[in-house]
Amino acid sequence: MEKKTLRIDCLEYGGLDELDAAARHLMEMAMAAARDAYAPYSHFHVGAAVRLADGTVVTGSNQENVAYPSGLCAERVALFSASAQHPDQPVTALAVVGFQNGHYCEASPCGACRQVMAEYEQRYGQKVTVYCYLNKGRIRQITGVESLLPFGFEARL
Ligand code: THU
Repeated sequence: MEKKTLRIDCLEYGGLDELDAAARHLMEMAMAAARDAYAPYSHFHVGAAVRLADGTVVTGSNQENVAYPSGLCAERVALFSASAQHPDQPVTALAVVGFQNGHYCEASPCGACRQVMAEYEQRYGQKVTVYCYLNKGRIRQITGVESLLPFGFEARL
């Protein structure tokens, strides 16, 4: 028996103004996308923006449905849309933000979205940097889905 300890590194910024121009732009695109969410059931709006290797930014917002499980998170709307439109461009970064009661708020990708991100990392052989909007306007940066989804599902099918 062996005890193993995982280490997770992340960076936290005090606000949008501390981000570099590309990351700030990505988060601002996610903030704009949150306004287009279709979330009549949860009233929790989420915006996501994905940056591709050539600099293209693809946005997404959560899309709900009266048959609840048929809805999709903002992150997967953005990721699947990016992959469908630009299949040859590696995903390099993703920003996510919540919007509720007229205010931007904390959002962190759910497990299913992390699994999807993990697959794009594998597919393109490139780490994805994730920016999560936190309460009080802080922003968390995590590089590599391994830090978001340790022991994620992998299979050779
Ligand atoms: N949601 C997202 O779009 N992204 C997340 O990271 C977490 C949750 C959506 C799903 C649902 O439409 C609403 O937020 C409430 O859970």
